[in-house]
Amino acid sequence: MTKALEGVRILDFTHVQSGPTCTQLLAWFGADVIKVEKAGEGDATRGQLRDVEGADSLYFTMLNHNKRSITLDTKNPKGKEVLVKLIKECDVMVENFAPGALDRMGFPWEKIQEINPRIILASVKGFGPGPYVDCKVYENVAQCTGGAASTTGDPDGLPMVTGAQIGDSGTGLHLALGIVTALYQREKTGRGQKVLAAMQDAVLNLCRVKLRDQQRLERTGELREYPQYPDIEFGEAVPRAGNASGGGQPGSILKCKGWQKDPNAYIYFITQGAVWPAICKIIGEEDWITNPHFATPQARLPHLKMIFARIEEWTKTKTKFEAMDILNEFDIPCGPILSMKEIAEDQSLRDTGTIVEVDHPVRGKYLSVGNPIKLSDSPTEVTRSPLLGEHTDEVLRQMGYSSAQLEELRAAKAI
Ligand code: COA
Repeated sequence: MTKALEGVRILDFTHVQSGPTCTQLLAWFGADVIKVEKAGEGDATRGQLRDVEGADSLYFTMLNHNKRSITLDTKNPKGKEVLVKLIKECDVMVENFAPGALDRMGFPWEKIQEINPRIILASVKGFGPGPYVDCKVYENVAQCTGGAASTTGDPDGLPMVTGAQIGDSGTGLHLALGIVTALYQREKTGRGQKVLAAMQDAVLNLCRVKLRDQQRLERTGELREYPQYPDIEFGEAVPRAGNASGGGQPGSILKCKGWQKDPNAYIYFITQGAVWPAICKIIGEEDWITNPHFATPQARLPHLKMIFARIEEWTKTKTKFEAMDILNEFDIPCGPILSMKEIAEDQSLRDTGTIVEVDHPVRGKYLSVGNPIKLSDSPTEVTRSPLLGEHTDEVLRQMGYSSAQLEELRAAKAI
């Protein structure tokens, strides 16, 4: 069976997390991803957070499946010649260097385009044009500058970063969409183009609902779905909402049986308007179905804390899975708080390929997250990440280099 992106060749200059997330997805969709790394060093994450002596870290292996690795010194004159050939042969060049690094390397966009007018140059940067354009950026910087941290956390606590890597992996996802869109446009125009995904922009895009709430707050002076309402006065900016959904369907995290000992014995419970009568019946408050203080979503807003406290009295009598089973019978939206251990052991996630076991020649077997996007005509087989420079000879031979030329490049320390 052919793969969706079969025939697309990606020159992958990405490192750490944001860029590699993007190129890994493209590889899973069938693109030939050639990861370029500095000889002897490679992607810094190969050696970071190591759990097996001498083996590429999980940080690296889990972000670089299905790619080929070549070593190339792009600051070496002979290495630059190889890079020119690679640019000619590839459809897309992806990079997430610090701002200006490509220019310093001697490969600004104008030169890349001159070498191959059909190429797409896709970049992750911390910020778009503006005062911070030259800054280096990591995950949590993006979460803080993209609006996520100021709107996450306890109402009276510090701004909070989240464990979901919305700055890195979130931006990688945005970039991947930009790349396939540019490839689609190239079908019609024959021209490549530049694609930029700035981490601040990607985080802000994922925080769209908070900019919605900022404007609602400015217009009305309050956010009735937030836990501050009705007791605490709102300030000028959207506050942190704890675990409140803050949206049209109020929700909260509630304790379940065993919460005293198990840090994950909790369930997220949504009091969706459509199933209010069922909720009232389950918790034994049938009077609330018609009582004017509770009967409509608007009437319930000032009483949400009391309502969730009452529902919690019920959830505390059930394990999170028992509660999930009972609530689902009545179509009440809810979700147990699953630990990473529970997710890693979840058979259904293994069956769909969302959790995969991969074998690696140095580190042995490990678990990874497979392709979360399923295409019926382009299934994903996850293969292990490459060793540093594992495919240098293979790739350069495919480009027409002879054994003698490879030796020459090696002697010049270009590869
Ligand atoms: N051959 C020769 N030189 C190479 C090379 C190769 N194959 N690959 C990289 N280099 C050089 C670069 O040209 C650069 O040189 P320069 O500083 O002289 O211009 C240097 O290696 C290091 O690149 P840089 O990107 O600055 O790495 P860093 O470790 O200093 O910074 C980041 C890391 C992530 C902070 C930075 O890359 C960045 O801000 N990237 C954009 C935002 C981003 O993606 N952040 C999230 C990361 S998950």
